[in-house]
Amino acid sequence: MSDLSIERPEDGPMTVAMRPGTPEDAEACGQICHRAFTGVATAHGYPSDFPSPEIGIGLMTMLLAHPGFYSVVAECEGTIVGSNFLDERSSIAGVGPITVDPTVQESGIGRLLMQNVLDRAAAQGAAGVRLLQSAYNTRSLSLYARMGFQVRDVVACMQGPPIGATIPGYGVRSAAEADLAACNDVCRYVHGHDRSGELRDAIAQGSAVVVEHGGRITGYATATAFFGHAVGETTEDLKAVIGEAQSFEGSGILVPLRNSALFAWCLQNRLRVVFLMTLMSVGLYNEPAGAYLPSVLY
Ligand SMILES: CC(C)(COP(=O)(O)OP(=O)(O)OC[C@H]1O[C@@H](n2cnc3c(N)ncnc32)[C@H](O)[C@@H]1OP(=O)(O)O)[C@@H](O)C(=O)NCCC(=O)NCCS
Repeated sequence: MSDLSIERPEDGPMTVAMRPGTPEDAEACGQICHRAFTGVATAHGYPSDFPSPEIGIGLMTMLLAHPGFYSVVAECEGTIVGSNFLDERSSIAGVGPITVDPTVQESGIGRLLMQNVLDRAAAQGAAGVRLLQSAYNTRSLSLYARMGFQVRDVVACMQGPPIGATIPGYGVRSAAEADLAACNDVCRYVHGHDRSGELRDAIAQGSAVVVEHGGRITGYATATAFFGHAVGETTEDLKAVIGEAQSFEGSGILVPLRNSALFAWCLQNRLRVVFLMTLMSVGLYNEPAGAYLPSVLY
């Protein structure tokens, strides 16, 4: 099913249709992204991941122009009422952000936007699909679970002043294109697949760092931030990355609670828990063999 009929109190029955996003949709999608995230966060007493329309529009502008992302827009009688994205840069696709205009939420549009990207992932032959959702958001948690997503991990979004610690024996430096193969090896060791597409972008943007230990690369981060992921053969690799980060951009870094040693170390170093998130996936999922920090977009 690609169309949906919804009832708005003042307008009566209306049809919602799905279509691919275009760069011209960034303004409308970004406004909705800001309103949708801020609405649910405020209702639960949490800070918004998109506290201003500009932050939403900025992300949508990037995603709608990026060839590695698939996008879908929900339109109701010519007006955009929601959007969703699929990161197709790696073998495991990543969903989000998905947002629906608060005036028409809970009428089935979110389900259509999710089904659309799941159909796309299947058509593209993705081995699996992942996402992160705010644990306080009972609606998105339930929607994803009803669509087959399984809870894989719970992570704490952590924020605070730079720690300014170095881990003896673990050097951190900017990543270069020549590091790609060694970094992909670490990611394959930890997750069973690489995330080369995201890493290549981050190296080009200058945000990626590598960890060297014993004369070789044992970890990397695309950014020590809400929108960056990191992997390490051991927890020490990630302590090195986090310890030397100048800031934690966006809402914070995402620390898996099952990595008790890393979570305790972050707390000891004065990082605070902002909120919890749930990592969910459908299809191929390998239990991480090493240490990792997911990105909010997976
Ligand atoms: C999350 C969001 C995209 C969902 O879109 P939506 O159009 O409101 O959702 P839908 O109406 O399609 O689906 C909601 C589903 O959750 C179910 N649901 C809602 N609250 C529930 C609860 N507390 N317990 C169980 N099920 C619940 C509904 O019954 C429905 O299930 P169904 O499709 O199987 O009938 C939308 O609410 C939104 O934009 N929220 C703010 C931004 C956000 O949080 N985005 C997601 C980030 S992870």
